[in-house]
Amino acid sequence: MLTIAVDGYSSSGKGIVCTKLANKLGIIHFDTGAIYRAIGLYVYQNEINPYDKDAVESCLNQIHIDLKHNNGEQITILNNVNVSDQIRASEISDICSITSTYPKVREFVLNIQRSSAKKFDLIMEGRSITSHVLPNANFKFFLDASLDVRAQRRYLDLVKKGENITLEDVKKDLKERDRRDIERDISPLILTEGTYYIDNSNMTIDEEVDLIYRTIKGENK
Ligand code: DC
Repeated sequence: MLTIAVDGYSSSGKGIVCTKLANKLGIIHFDTGAIYRAIGLYVYQNEINPYDKDAVESCLNQIHIDLKHNNGEQITILNNVNVSDQIRASEISDICSITSTYPKVREFVLNIQRSSAKKFDLIMEGRSITSHVLPNANFKFFLDASLDVRAQRRYLDLVKKGENITLEDVKKDLKERDRRDIERDISPLILTEGTYYIDNSNMTIDEEVDLIYRTIKGENK
C-alpha cells in the first residue's frame, strides 16, 4: 500500500493540493476533516451543546459515516444522507473544532482512518496524521502558511460562498482554531522528525503540487 500523510493548520491549502496530487498519482484523496465535520453537523442538527463532552461522546453510537471517492472527489455520507456541502458551513467549522478535541471522538475517527489506510493507496490529509494516525506512512508532509495568508484565503472563500464576514473576524477565528489544534491533550498538531515541512505562503498551488510530487518520485535533490 502507498500511504502519504499530510498535516497542516486550517486553511493551509491541504485540500486543493492533496486533490491535485492524488489525481496526478492516481490514488485516493482521503480528507479526514470531513469526518470531524460530519460529527459536528450531527451535533448541530440535534441541538447538542458542543461544549458538553459527555453528550457529544454519547451521541457517537447514533452516527454512521461513509466516505465515497469518485473521480478525485470525496463524498461524505452521514446516516445515509450526502452532507458533502453542508459540512463546509462556518458554524460547522466552529463546532467541529471544539468536538474534535474529545477523546472518544478522536478514537471514533481513528478507527475509520486506520482501516481505510489498509484498504487503499491514498493521501490522507488532516491533523496528527503524520504523528499519530499514520506515523509509518511512506511519505509525510506538513503544509503551512502565515496566519495572514491563510486568513486572506479563507476570507475570499467565505465571501465567494456569500457569507457576510470581515477579514479580522476570519483571522481571529483561525487563531482560535490553531490554538485548539496545537493545545489539545490528545494527538495535537505537531511537526515530527521525518516529515517534510513546506511553507506555501509564497507558492502557487501548482508549484507546491510539483514540489511534493518530485519529492515522492525522488527527483527533488
Ligand atoms: O481540515 P478541516 O478544516 O476540514 O478540519 C475540520 C476540523 O477537524 C478542524 O477543527 C480540525 C479537526 N481535525 C482534526 O482534529 N484531525 C484531523 N485529522 C482532521 C481535522
